[in-house]
Amino acid sequence: MIETSKPVNSLEDSNFQIQVKDCYKIYKRGEIEVVALSGLNCNFHKGEITVIMGPSGCGKTTMLNMIGGLDQLNSGQIIVGNVNIAKLSKKNLEKYRRDHIGFIFQFSSLIPELTAEENIGLPLILTTGLNAEKKKYISELLDVVGLTDRKTHRPDELSGGEQQRVGVAAALANKPDIILCDEPTGELDSITKLKIMDLLRKIIETYPEKTMIIVTHDPELRAIADRMYYIRDGNISHQFDKEEMEKMKINNKTSSLINQTSQNGGNYKEFLIELREINHLVKGKINKIEKKIHPI
Ligand SMILES: Nc1ncnc2c1ncn2[C@@H]1O[C@H](COP(=O)(O)OP(=O)(O)OP(=O)(O)O)[C@@H](O)[C@H]1O
Ligand SMILES: [Mg+2]
Repeated sequence: MIETSKPVNSLEDSNFQIQVKDCYKIYKRGEIEVVALSGLNCNFHKGEITVIMGPSGCGKTTMLNMIGGLDQLNSGQIIVGNVNIAKLSKKNLEKYRRDHIGFIFQFSSLIPELTAEENIGLPLILTTGLNAEKKKYISELLDVVGLTDRKTHRPDELSGGEQQRVGVAAALANKPDIILCDEPTGELDSITKLKIMDLLRKIIETYPEKTMIIVTHDPELRAIADRMYYIRDGNISHQFDKEEMEKMKINNKTSSLINQTSQNGGNYKEFLIELREINHLVKGKINKIEKKIHPI
């Protein structure tokens, strides 16, 4: 059981992952029952971004809420590290949420009267309080999200994208192991969206001990995913593992290059350079697989 801060399921375990096993969640409103999760099974890995897509109402947010300890299952297990969080008491679930989870939503809920720096530090002020080490960490976060020179600005003095960056940094303040994002780029214009996508990728690369899960309707977020699940009616309908994602990215890159090349009057020199790079990538992969099949 989770008893202390940063306990058992900690990140020292190199196989850290989240295992969602045969999960059911049924909401009841009077006579009406809605099956939001219907025997859901899936895994999430440390150092990876998993993107989850699926039609409205298929159970994406419900699944995030369960992993984030905001709500409880009817049946099934969610194993985080080596702890089944579905069996935690309310008090321990609260502790799990505080110590291990960071939430990033479509609209970051910033306090209008506080500066960017204070908004980022707020989760710490409200829980453990601030000390020199934590203040240093807040400066590090401001730097990671590229807002050091905006730290004294209040939300109404920041752009939408900058406000979302503050939200991202605030979600990292308690050093969570698991970062859960529900439509993190939902309301952003396309350029700002790309910047936030880059930032999310940068975060998992800067802190590879973390696990990130992104729920979205936007297929462009596939570009930053290591793994993907499609959900339909509360269950996984399709999944793409790491290798399949790389293939998909290579295919997308090749076709977008072919389009660009034909649009810009056929700059085949640039096209060839990029194609060689892709070729190099693919060859590397083939070598690795060949070595697996025929080890020397
Ligand atoms: N608190 C609740 N009470 C009753 N039904 C609920 C509740 N929360 C969600 N539901 C229902 O459960 C189903 C799954 O909802 P969920 O919010 O997980 O969908 P979603 O995939 O996140 O959809 P969207 O893409 O629109 O955000 C829906 O049919 C929804 O109406
Ligand atoms: Mg949702």
